[in-house]
Amino acid sequence: MKGIILAGGKGSRLFPVTTGVSKQLLPVYDKPMVYYPLSVLMQAKIKDILLISTPHDLDQYKRLLGDGSQWGINLSYLKQDQPNGLAEAFIIGESFIKDDPICLVLGDNIFHGPSFSKYLKDAIHQSTRNQKATIFGVKVKDPQRYGVIKFDKNGDALKIEEKPDLPKSDFAVAGLYFYPNSVIEISKKIKPSKRGELEISSVNQIYLNELKLHVEKLGSGFTWLDTGTHESLLEASQFIQTIEKRQGIKVGCLEEIAFENKWISKETVIKNANLLKHTDYGEFLIKKYLNVGD
Ligand code: G1P
Repeated sequence: MKGIILAGGKGSRLFPVTTGVSKQLLPVYDKPMVYYPLSVLMQAKIKDILLISTPHDLDQYKRLLGDGSQWGINLSYLKQDQPNGLAEAFIIGESFIKDDPICLVLGDNIFHGPSFSKYLKDAIHQSTRNQKATIFGVKVKDPQRYGVIKFDKNGDALKIEEKPDLPKSDFAVAGLYFYPNSVIEISKKIKPSKRGELEISSVNQIYLNELKLHVEKLGSGFTWLDTGTHESLLEASQFIQTIEKRQGIKVGCLEEIAFENKWISKETVIKNANLLKHTDYGEFLIKKYLNVGD
């Protein structure tokens, strides 16, 4: 299983904040936004990760994340020349994906909640063993901003619609997708939508038509945040601040996940932490790991 983070787009809904800087590099409380989706792939135990961004922004991501060896992962980078849609990620990433199944996470999505590792494990199982795709449905107040899942009486998914004017349910499709390798060929076949993009919802509809789409509903205790507007970006920061302060945890802490996965040693955690000394993030790591046994 390989992973792709898509951190492209113009971020036009956040102008002028994103006029000079890529949206997914903006801070969400104490770390850059892209840390959160990267942490999701690492929690899924995915080590080979491709980051796709605009030609203009790619160098900044390289400067921030490097080759990933500081977290025991392999990061590579490719550009998306135009915002041609999410599904283009699989065409751009074809030579990186090779014959593997693939997980796509959007660079502006934040996930936090119980049983997340189990959801991830199950999704990987579906794509590697059963050749099925997995998407995650989350109940929201404003489904028309997202991909929306229509269900039948029995609760089975019937249709996936991208940003419908009249949503058929309150269940939005979160920006985290697991696919078998067939997603590359499917993405090459779909046609651009009215807004001129290769929609991920069109890909999901094909898997659904073929009875190869697993829809996992994330329960009400689960938090899925998007950062698409000034208000939701501020709320995401406030949410992370609140739970980090109250619970003494760090959300999206890459060193913590890498250490738990046994990808990096305690020494590497401390070395990374020393580069972030005098920040909450660095101090959290030093306090937690300085005295752990190897
Ligand atoms: C994209 C997808 C949409 C999905 C959303 C999740 O929308 O097209 O189906 O629900 O991400 O964040 P975008 O954020 O590109 O408007």
